[in-house]
Amino acid sequence: MQNVKINGARLWDSLMEMAKIGATEKGGVCRLALTDLDKQSRDLFVRWCEEAGCSVSVDKMGNIFARRAGTDNSLPPVVMGSHLDTQPTGGRFDGVYGVLCGLEVIRSLNDQNMQTLHPIEATVWTNEEGSRFPPAMVASGVFAGVFDLDYGLSRADLDGKTMGEELQRIGYAGDLEVGNRPFKAFFEAHIEQGPILENEQKTIGVVTDAQGQRWYEVTLTGQEAHAGPTPMATRRDALLGAARIVNQVNKIGLDNAPLACATVGLLQVFPNSRNVIPGQVFFSIDFRHPDDATLSAMDTALRQYCQDLASELGLEMDFKEIWYSPPVPFDRACVDSVRAAASASGYPHRDIVSGAGHDACYLSRVAPTAMVFVPCENGISHNEAENATTEDIEAGCNVLIQAVLLQANS
Ligand code: GLV
Ligand code: MN
Ligand code: MN
Repeated sequence: MQNVKINGARLWDSLMEMAKIGATEKGGVCRLALTDLDKQSRDLFVRWCEEAGCSVSVDKMGNIFARRAGTDNSLPPVVMGSHLDTQPTGGRFDGVYGVLCGLEVIRSLNDQNMQTLHPIEATVWTNEEGSRFPPAMVASGVFAGVFDLDYGLSRADLDGKTMGEELQRIGYAGDLEVGNRPFKAFFEAHIEQGPILENEQKTIGVVTDAQGQRWYEVTLTGQEAHAGPTPMATRRDALLGAARIVNQVNKIGLDNAPLACATVGLLQVFPNSRNVIPGQVFFSIDFRHPDDATLSAMDTALRQYCQDLASELGLEMDFKEIWYSPPVPFDRACVDSVRAAASASGYPHRDIVSGAGHDACYLSRVAPTAMVFVPCENGISHNEAENATTEDIEAGCNVLIQAVLLQANS
């Protein structure tokens, strides 16, 4: 393995420059998918890639590919990337780290005049978070053939605006067909978003697998009524139903401890007036587990509880599973490249399972794929306080470049 290093200071400066786009008062970033701020971050990424000599193309889902030629351009590229969109109270690293690591690898190869046999690409996947347009990982999902293009373009936000309309509006509805293009390998660098690496003082997480997810949307309908004269016994309170389901979701998570995660993160109450018994409530449920059979048992338990509860409380229920992403084993050869790169660089490392979803999960269906994790402060992510050290940020990209070179020259 060659002893190639990236420029850690430049990578950090680029991250901090990008973090200005959508910067929040608490030091985080709010850059929801396909907003004007997302456009600004894309424009900056494209400019930096063009300055690094890349040719840039955009597909119909707005995925961006910046290509550095190889010595044999008939060979499939080795691709690195992640996403630029964030959560509403997001941080400076989730997603953007993997994107700018891709760019930094290209910049470093340029600095060192290094050619690769395969072309190399840095990529941005549209709407990974699924916060504005559910579900998560929509555009990498279309790329991987999990969703069709119409499904992807018709995903809508809570105001009814679709991804297709918003891609047109910000100028990122590209011409390129989505997917159907071989990659030699795909690598995604990311902060861990959990506490394991920091607790164990490991610099690098060699990501072997990602856990499965099921997302649901539930609408409970009861009856609006006056909060004063309506006796308790005759009420059909949709929020009471939602509250009990929220509690049960948490219980199902605890019942399947230690590996299960179960969250209600979005809840809308109608009419949301303090002296009206809530007539309708809409909310989301996010279930995760690394073992598909357990995830499926959690699903069964949830459905049974919701059905029984709706009839007990006299509520109508619209219960939809809107997304299922099974557990993902990453490609053993690519995972080995990451582990070998971490060992050769002398970084303390361990194998790890990703708790979060990532574009790499869908890419793994169509390309040999692996991920590189670095620690984040107190394991906190999807939070404006998200933080990482300059040393760890640099280390992750040093591992990435080595792993990429292993794949790009063979
Ligand atoms: C993506 O950030 C996820 O929800 O895991
Ligand atoms: Mn992410
Ligand atoms: Mn995220």
